[in-house]
Amino acid sequence: MIVDLPDLAASEAFAQRIAAALRSGDVVALSGGLGAGKTTLARGVIASLGHEGEVPSPSFAIIEVYDPPAVRIPLVHADFYRLEDPAEVEEIGLDDYRHGAALLAEWPEHAGGFAHEAGCLSIMLESTEKGRRAIVTAGPDWLERGAWI
Ligand SMILES: Nc1ncnc2c1ncn2[C@@H]1O[C@H](COP(=O)(O)OP(=O)(O)OP(=O)(O)O)[C@@H](O)[C@H]1O
Ligand SMILES: [Mg+2]
Repeated sequence: MIVDLPDLAASEAFAQRIAAALRSGDVVALSGGLGAGKTTLARGVIASLGHEGEVPSPSFAIIEVYDPPAVRIPLVHADFYRLEDPAEVEEIGLDDYRHGAALLAEWPEHAGGFAHEAGCLSIMLESTEKGRRAIVTAGPDWLERGAWI
Protein backbone atom coordinates (compact mmCIF):
# COMPACT_ATOMS: atom_id res chain seq x y z
CA MET A 1 0.00 0.00 0.00
CA ILE A 2 1.30 3.46 -0.91
CA VAL A 3 0.45 6.58 1.11
CA ASP A 4 1.34 9.98 -0.34
CA LEU A 5 2.70 12.45 2.21
CA PRO A 6 3.09 15.69 0.21
CA ASP A 7 3.72 17.85 3.28
CA LEU A 8 4.18 17.79 7.05
CA ALA A 9 0.43 18.00 7.63
CA ALA A 10 -0.02 14.77 5.63
CA SER A 11 2.65 13.03 7.71
CA GLU A 12 0.92 14.19 10.89
CA ALA A 13 -2.48 12.95 9.70
CA PHE A 14 -0.96 9.58 8.77
CA ALA A 15 0.74 9.38 12.18
CA GLN A 16 -2.62 10.04 13.82
CA ARG A 17 -4.24 7.10 11.98
CA ILE A 18 -1.38 4.80 12.98
CA ALA A 19 -1.67 5.93 16.61
CA ALA A 20 -5.42 5.29 16.69
CA ALA A 21 -4.88 1.66 15.63
CA LEU A 22 -1.69 1.01 17.63
CA ARG A 23 -1.66 -1.73 20.30
CA SER A 24 0.84 -2.99 22.86
CA GLY A 25 3.27 -5.44 21.30
CA ASP A 26 3.18 -3.76 17.88
CA VAL A 27 6.21 -2.48 16.02
CA VAL A 28 6.11 0.46 13.63
CA ALA A 29 9.33 -0.03 11.61
CA LEU A 30 10.36 3.27 9.99
CA SER A 31 12.87 2.86 7.16
CA GLY A 32 14.36 5.31 4.68
CA GLY A 33 17.59 7.27 4.36
CA LEU A 34 18.81 10.32 6.26
CA GLY A 35 16.09 12.96 6.38
CA ALA A 36 13.42 10.62 4.99
CA GLY A 37 10.93 11.70 7.66
CA LYS A 38 11.13 8.83 10.14
CA THR A 39 11.40 10.95 13.30
CA THR A 40 8.65 13.24 12.03
CA LEU A 41 6.24 10.29 11.79
CA ALA A 42 7.34 8.87 15.14
CA ARG A 43 6.82 12.26 16.82
CA GLY A 44 3.35 12.45 15.28
CA VAL A 45 2.43 9.04 16.66
CA ILE A 46 3.75 9.90 20.14
CA ALA A 47 1.85 13.21 20.18
CA SER A 48 -1.33 11.52 18.90
CA LEU A 49 -1.12 9.02 21.75
CA GLY A 50 -1.34 11.93 24.17
CA HIS A 51 2.22 13.08 24.85
CA GLU A 52 2.50 16.83 25.28
CA GLY A 53 5.65 18.83 24.68
CA GLU A 54 9.00 17.94 23.18
CA VAL A 55 9.83 14.53 21.76
CA PRO A 56 13.62 14.20 21.82
CA SER A 57 15.14 12.36 18.87
CA PRO A 58 16.53 9.08 20.25
CA SER A 59 19.47 9.20 17.85
CA PHE A 60 21.89 9.69 20.76
CA ALA A 61 20.15 7.82 23.62
CA ILE A 62 18.96 5.07 21.20
CA ILE A 63 15.85 4.49 23.34
CA GLU A 64 13.24 6.86 24.80
CA VAL A 65 10.32 5.51 26.84
CA TYR A 66 6.83 7.00 27.26
CA ASP A 67 4.45 5.68 29.90
CA PRO A 68 0.75 6.17 30.67
CA PRO A 69 -1.05 8.25 31.74
CA ALA A 70 0.86 10.73 29.53
CA VAL A 71 0.28 8.37 26.57
CA ARG A 72 -2.56 5.90 25.87
CA ILE A 73 -0.26 2.84 25.80
CA PRO A 74 3.35 2.30 26.91
CA LEU A 75 5.67 3.27 24.09
CA VAL A 76 9.32 2.77 23.18
CA HIS A 77 10.85 5.11 20.59
CA ALA A 78 14.17 3.75 19.31
CA ASP A 79 16.71 4.89 16.73
CA PHE A 80 19.03 1.99 15.93
CA TYR A 81 21.23 3.98 13.54
CA ARG A 82 24.26 3.82 15.84
CA LEU A 83 24.13 0.05 16.42
CA GLU A 84 27.05 -1.61 14.72
CA ASP A 85 25.72 -5.14 15.08
CA PRO A 86 22.11 -6.35 15.48
CA ALA A 87 23.29 -8.43 18.46
CA GLU A 88 23.63 -5.14 20.38
CA VAL A 89 19.83 -4.93 20.74
CA GLU A 90 20.15 -7.56 23.46
CA GLU A 91 22.87 -5.57 25.23
CA ILE A 92 20.68 -2.48 25.40
CA GLY A 93 17.87 -4.62 26.85
CA LEU A 94 15.31 -3.94 24.13
CA ASP A 95 13.14 -6.93 25.09
CA ASP A 96 12.72 -5.57 28.63
CA TYR A 97 11.77 -2.13 27.33
CA ARG A 98 9.32 -3.69 24.87
CA HIS A 99 7.45 -5.70 27.50
CA GLY A 100 3.81 -4.55 27.28
CA ALA A 101 4.76 -1.63 25.04
CA ALA A 102 4.51 -0.67 21.39
CA LEU A 103 7.80 0.02 19.60
CA LEU A 104 8.49 2.82 17.13
CA ALA A 105 11.74 1.78 15.44
CA GLU A 106 13.89 4.01 13.24
CA TRP A 107 16.62 2.20 11.24
CA PRO A 108 15.00 -1.20 12.07
CA GLU A 109 17.40 -3.03 9.76
CA HIS A 110 20.29 -2.06 12.10
CA ALA A 111 18.50 -4.09 14.79
CA GLY A 112 17.97 -7.14 12.59
CA GLY A 113 14.53 -6.08 11.36
CA PHE A 114 11.05 -6.74 12.74
CA ALA A 115 9.06 -7.67 9.62
CA HIS A 116 8.78 -11.29 10.79
CA GLU A 117 6.58 -10.16 13.71
CA ALA A 118 2.81 -10.39 13.14
CA GLY A 119 2.35 -6.97 14.74
CA CYS A 120 4.87 -5.18 12.54
CA LEU A 121 3.80 -2.27 10.38
CA SER A 122 6.69 -1.62 7.99
CA ILE A 123 6.88 1.89 6.58
CA MET A 124 9.49 2.73 3.95
CA LEU A 125 9.78 6.48 3.37
CA GLU A 126 10.97 7.95 0.08
CA SER A 127 11.39 11.51 -1.13
CA THR A 128 9.12 12.78 -3.88
CA GLU A 129 9.20 16.06 -5.80
CA LYS A 130 7.26 17.88 -3.07
CA GLY A 131 7.30 15.74 0.03
CA ARG A 132 7.43 12.06 0.88
CA ARG A 133 5.81 8.79 -0.04
CA ALA A 134 5.29 5.86 2.35
CA ILE A 135 5.35 2.27 1.15
CA VAL A 136 3.46 0.40 3.83
CA THR A 137 3.51 -3.34 4.51
CA ALA A 138 1.21 -4.49 7.29
CA GLY A 139 1.78 -7.68 9.27
CA PRO A 140 -1.17 -10.07 9.77
CA ASP A 141 -2.17 -8.48 13.11
CA TRP A 142 -2.78 -5.17 11.32
CA LEU A 143 -4.85 -6.68 8.52
CA GLU A 144 -7.55 -7.76 11.01
CA ARG A 145 -7.99 -4.19 12.20
CA GLY A 146 -10.25 -3.19 9.34
CA ALA A 147 -9.88 0.18 7.70
CA TRP A 148 -7.28 1.54 10.11
CA ILE A 149 -5.65 3.58 7.35
N1 LIG B 1 5.85 14.57 4.46
C1 LIG B 1 6.83 15.48 4.48
N2 LIG B 1 6.85 16.47 3.56
C2 LIG B 1 7.86 17.40 3.57
N3 LIG B 1 8.87 17.44 4.46
C3 LIG B 1 8.91 16.47 5.40
C4 LIG B 1 7.89 15.45 5.46
N4 LIG B 1 8.20 14.63 6.50
C5 LIG B 1 9.33 15.12 7.05
N5 LIG B 1 9.76 16.22 6.41
C6 LIG B 1 10.98 17.02 6.72
O1 LIG B 1 12.13 16.26 6.44
C7 LIG B 1 13.19 16.61 7.35
C8 LIG B 1 13.79 15.37 7.96
O2 LIG B 1 12.80 14.71 8.74
P1 LIG B 1 13.15 13.69 9.90
O3 LIG B 1 14.09 14.30 10.87
O4 LIG B 1 11.84 13.20 10.40
O5 LIG B 1 13.92 12.56 9.09
P2 LIG B 1 14.61 11.22 9.61
O6 LIG B 1 14.22 10.17 8.63
O7 LIG B 1 14.28 10.97 11.03
O8 LIG B 1 16.14 11.55 9.44
P3 LIG B 1 17.44 10.94 10.20
O9 LIG B 1 17.65 9.56 9.65
O10 LIG B 1 18.54 11.87 9.79
O11 LIG B 1 17.14 10.94 11.67
C9 LIG B 1 12.58 17.56 8.37
O12 LIG B 1 12.97 18.88 8.04
C10 LIG B 1 11.08 17.38 8.19
O13 LIG B 1 10.38 18.55 8.48
MG1 LIG C 1 15.47 10.52 12.77
